[in-house]
Amino acid sequence: KTVFILNGPNLNLLGQRQPEIYGRETLADIETACAEVAADLGLATRFFQSNLEGEIVEQVHAARAEAAGIVINPAAYTHTSVAILDALKAFDGPVIEVHLSNVHKREAFRHHSYVSLRADGVIAGCGSQGYLLALQRLSALLS
Ligand code: DQA
Repeated sequence: KTVFILNGPNLNLLGQRQPEIYGRETLADIETACAEVAADLGLATRFFQSNLEGEIVEQVHAARAEAAGIVINPAAYTHTSVAILDALKAFDGPVIEVHLSNVHKREAFRHHSYVSLRADGVIAGCGSQGYLLALQRLSALLS
């Protein structure tokens, strides 16, 4: 089984971007760790990042045919994107939403997530480990 790991805007700058909030690891480091954990769980992964909302929508569409489950950190689109929410509603498998930071400890505008209206689980504030926890949860939901 394949799971898609989708990442939204500015996450390409991880490691350089507000490291006090998002940590020193790069997105490539997270991709490597995800691939290792997924392999142990018997899952294949497609790791994707885009700064463009429509490209994330299109990856969710591709997941309809190609993925058993989705891990998604929609980044700022979490708080704005009805389009990503609607795309996820057209996906039948399990969806886990991940945030590196604890969005609930931050500004009020980060407390609401459109994506949470579809997500089967939400992990926030566990740093990059959140992605690995999300993969474990997907594996459990898929077995
Ligand atoms: C984020 C939290 C969002 O509020 C923010 O816009 C991001 C990253 C996180 O991983 O903590 O870009 O999704």
